[in-house]
Amino acid sequence: MNIIFLGAPGAGKGTQAEKVSEKLSIPTVSTGNIIREALRTGTEMGLKAKSYIEAGKLVPDEVVIGIIKDRLAQDDCKNGFILDGFPRTIPQAEALDAMGIVIDKVIDIEVADDKIAARMSGRRVCPSCGASYHLEYKKPEKDGVCNLCSAELVQRKDDAPETVLERLKVYHEETEPLKDYYAKTGKLRIVEGQENVADTTALTFKALED
Ligand code: AP5
Repeated sequence: MNIIFLGAPGAGKGTQAEKVSEKLSIPTVSTGNIIREALRTGTEMGLKAKSYIEAGKLVPDEVVIGIIKDRLAQDDCKNGFILDGFPRTIPQAEALDAMGIVIDKVIDIEVADDKIAARMSGRRVCPSCGASYHLEYKKPEKDGVCNLCSAELVQRKDDAPETVLERLKVYHEETEPLKDYYAKTGKLRIVEGQENVADTTALTFKALED
């Protein structure tokens, strides 16, 4: 099964993609994670993306389309995959179609902007291994320390309140039109994001069966 997760920044796409990945045993392809890893390791692509990501802007289409082409050509995507954070613009969706990739379901997770702003302020990430936590909803075992590698947790630069507002603006302008794009294909399913991760997961699994 080939699945796309749509939704505003912080709506819970990554969290739900992880749950579906475990259930269906297919990989999650997150352009955000791939770009952050490139930033961490200082590759040429990472350096190109740095100013965009830190300002809450989208990385240019040609860069992310290149990332996706390479990643989907890998063996582990042969039996299906989950796209988390791609496509984010109409040209990206058209590029996916032009690759001949057939998408089975598009899950759009809906959360109001004011709830998102509050959620993002509580996210903390591990700068060493990339694991993600939340001060209220997904606490690490020891305050401020990564469960997996014991590094000190930090806030993502693009989770600063003013950058979150910019990311939401970009989402409404450039990504939200994808809902219409996929509604026309009959593959779009809307999931209302809940306060509790498990409740959202139950709705996501149901939407995948519809
Ligand atoms: P990316 O990493 O994709 O960021 P995003 O879409 O802004 O996604 P987030 O990770 O912030 O949110 P999410 O919806 O995955 O939520 P999560 O599950 O983490 O992209 C970052 C940047 O990279 C972009 O701004 C752009 O610059 C660039 N980029 C990436 N892809 C690109 C593309 N295709 N084109 C161009 N540029 C691109 O949850 C958020 C928090 O809420 C977590 O702390 C979580 O624990 C908590 N939470 C989740 N669900 C719930 C719940 N139900 N109740 C309570 N808390 C919850």
